[in-house]
Amino acid sequence: MRTNQPKTIYLSEYRVPAYLVDSVDLTFELFEEGARVHSVLSVRRNPDSDAGPAPLELDGDSLKLESLALDGKTLDEGAFEDLGDRLVIPGVPETFELTVVTWIEPQNNTRLEGLYKSSGMFCTQCEAEGFRCITYFPDRPDVMSRFRTRIEAEKSAYPVLLSNGNDVDRGDLADGRHFVTWEDPFPKPCYLFALVAGDLVEKRDSFTTCSGREIDLRMYVEPRNAEKCDHAMDSLKRSMRWDEDVYGREYDLDIFMIVAVDDFNMGAMENKGLNIFNSSCVLASQETATDMAFQRIEAIVAHEYFHNWSGNRVTCRDWFQLSLKEGFTVFRDASFSADTGSPTVKRIEDVTLLRTAQFAEDAGPMSHPVRPSSYMEISNFYTLTIYEKGAEVVRMIHSLLGPDMFRKGSDLYFERHDGQAVTTDDFVRAMEDASGRDLSQFRLWYEQAGTPVLDVSDEFDASAGIYRLTIRQSIPDTPGQSNKQPQHIPFAMGLLGAQGQALPLRLRSGDTDAPLERVLELTDAEHTFEFHGLDERPVPSLLRHFSAPVRVSYPWTREQLQFLMSHDPDGFNRWDAGQRLAVDVIQGLVGNPDEDAIDSRLVDAYRQLISDSSLDQALVAKMLQLPSEAYLIELSEAADAPAIHAARERVLKRLATALRDELVACYNRNHQSGPYRVTPEQIAGRSLRNTALSWLLLINDDEGRELASQQFRAADNMTDRMGALRALVNSDYEADRERVLSEFYERFRHDPQVVEQWFSVQAASGQAGRLPQIRALLEHEAFDWKNPNKVRSVIGAFAGQNLAEFHKPDGSGYEFLAEQVCRLDDSNPQIAARLVTPLTRWRKFAPSYGEQMKAGLEKVRDKAGLSRDVYEVVHKSLAD
Ligand code: TRP
Ligand code: ZN
Repeated sequence: MRTNQPKTIYLSEYRVPAYLVDSVDLTFELFEEGARVHSVLSVRRNPDSDAGPAPLELDGDSLKLESLALDGKTLDEGAFEDLGDRLVIPGVPETFELTVVTWIEPQNNTRLEGLYKSSGMFCTQCEAEGFRCITYFPDRPDVMSRFRTRIEAEKSAYPVLLSNGNDVDRGDLADGRHFVTWEDPFPKPCYLFALVAGDLVEKRDSFTTCSGREIDLRMYVEPRNAEKCDHAMDSLKRSMRWDEDVYGREYDLDIFMIVAVDDFNMGAMENKGLNIFNSSCVLASQETATDMAFQRIEAIVAHEYFHNWSGNRVTCRDWFQLSLKEGFTVFRDASFSADTGSPTVKRIEDVTLLRTAQFAEDAGPMSHPVRPSSYMEISNFYTLTIYEKGAEVVRMIHSLLGPDMFRKGSDLYFERHDGQAVTTDDFVRAMEDASGRDLSQFRLWYEQAGTPVLDVSDEFDASAGIYRLTIRQSIPDTPGQSNKQPQHIPFAMGLLGAQGQALPLRLRSGDTDAPLERVLELTDAEHTFEFHGLDERPVPSLLRHFSAPVRVSYPWTREQLQFLMSHDPDGFNRWDAGQRLAVDVIQGLVGNPDEDAIDSRLVDAYRQLISDSSLDQALVAKMLQLPSEAYLIELSEAADAPAIHAARERVLKRLATALRDELVACYNRNHQSGPYRVTPEQIAGRSLRNTALSWLLLINDDEGRELASQQFRAADNMTDRMGALRALVNSDYEADRERVLSEFYERFRHDPQVVEQWFSVQAASGQAGRLPQIRALLEHEAFDWKNPNKVRSVIGAFAGQNLAEFHKPDGSGYEFLAEQVCRLDDSNPQIAARLVTPLTRWRKFAPSYGEQMKAGLEKVRDKAGLSRDVYEVVHKSLAD
């Protein structure tokens, strides 16, 4: 066990930096055995600090210090103190130049923080605290400096040398080496620093900004990926235009670069002028990437690009403010995706993620506010709460202010804080100042953790024609927080008449011109709203477009849900009604293994969806997806995952049996001719076909089997090939399963992004992903413990999606996960800490499961030399 417990960092202890670094002059000498980093800092005492002539403190991690000099004079060992994670230099003057030389070993860096090697190239990841793995530096976002970077390396192995800004000098050196010098004119925190050195091909394009400046766009990828850049480049150009049109934000440097690297802890990184991407989040071709991957790439390219303003020009004062840039930027990329594709479908996808994973996080041991007030390891706080709930909070401001005032607010924010490191409070204040609205109660969304619960009840006074809606809000206790105050919640709603017509929402009798939809504002623990002039009891449509990240409980009848599914004018709520109906039916079968019949209302509703081609097919494709096992678990108490899995499967099979002919017709109707395009219509068509196929194979339909085999062979795109593969892998046709898996591997074995998909199809499958098979995948020639994507595609997919196997009553799934987390903790703590998440949910499960999950956590806790990352997650999960 670890002897010195990691330290907790508190927001309340924030102090402005005692020293500022105006400029940084870096020289990297890159070699196979390591790298030497020369850093020259222009340091000045911070006039805003009351620390006075304090010692200078620099962060450092895993560095070998070669030399240290102050104003040209070498400091020997007595002149400073090395505290392991910090250098402390006392008695420094008011302004001075500090020269630091460090030696690092990128080739042995498996944590993928700082400078490391990935498939033969050098690359960096400095957010959040990776720069301290490169050199000693005040590694905090409120220290912003101008960077000049010279990179020296062997020319033949590393012809391409990149860093932030503009290349200002280059030339050859002795011994076959060369150098390039980069200068970034914009002061930035060191977490936005980046360096890349490798043998990469360059793809060029250009973009003319709204003010007529021509921007050089460049993508750098390994030669074998040269044909997979078009989609990202196109997404980039559309993002640049969108940010000008919608936010008035123009790009500021002359060059914008994107680099793809195979080994990367997260999706991508917004380094100034030099975005670095996980290969799987940027490279795509029709043959190798699914529709989902195309959409994910578009969203991530946009996300990183949008950070240039929301993150880089205006950055975070400290890491407690992380959602300032992440929540806002996710909101921005979601709006972009909504404008590009189907807004309703985009909203459904985002809400699905939020309700399944963020709600679970917020109800678990790592629950934290959008602006946390303490942490041990900041990497653990790149969470769904910071990103997705943070985006919901910005979205609520948008709906409270309306689009015009919101735009005024964002203009004010960017103008007021350009070049500064600020707080979420500064963001809210800009919105208040621009709009004149008081958001003081709204700020609780940043401070209080937990998902608010809205209990809705209603009554109809037939004689007065008044419908009363009562909404009570409560916020559950979360670690360290109880007795919370009511929050300011925008609640969009409408009322439907018996014929399905939208009813005017009259708050007073005789109200003419009453709207058909209102955004009610909840501020108290309880509100009652009266709607006048109604001749019959209406059906309420609540929380339209999911106007706030809350749970709504209302005693819907199945008739009402079926009615809303086909009549609600809000597409999102149609979908939601379908989900609620399906949840209700599935929950009725959990722990009721002899009950075989399912409610005919569900069958009828689905029959209509499948057969009526006049409906919005993109929405229909979403409505046909039954609520996931993970979501069903999130909704239950004392969850029994295998029972939930079995109940859901039974419902699927009943539906597939009852609708067999409609499914075949739907499959045939959605046959696509003409070239592959990633449009909402085509995506919907492929999704419907592949859903039909997977349902048919669940009931061992021989025609379905034939269609799947044929589609697998003939597909001209990965969505269809993968759809057929998945359907066959999850079927009982064992011989087909083996055949298609090996054919697929042979065809794509040289493409890591496809091999990842091949791994996860198996790991997520109840048929192909039994524990011995999972262990075999870990031994497979294509598996690589050092590559986070491979680890996620096997271990992450198993524990996150193959729930009946992971939650085997004998506890073997938990033991397996604990073992792999321990193994990864030594090489990559960030990944290990993320992988352990499923075990942290142990309180959610029935005791026979929960106790064994807890035992898995204890095993991890007791590992020798546990990283700070895993320590924090495991200890918080075991705390009582
Ligand atoms: N800022 C990045 C983004 O949201 C997130 C990120 C990329 C990150 N790599 C990381 C966070 C490594 C922590 C560690 O786009
Ligand atoms: Zn981001």
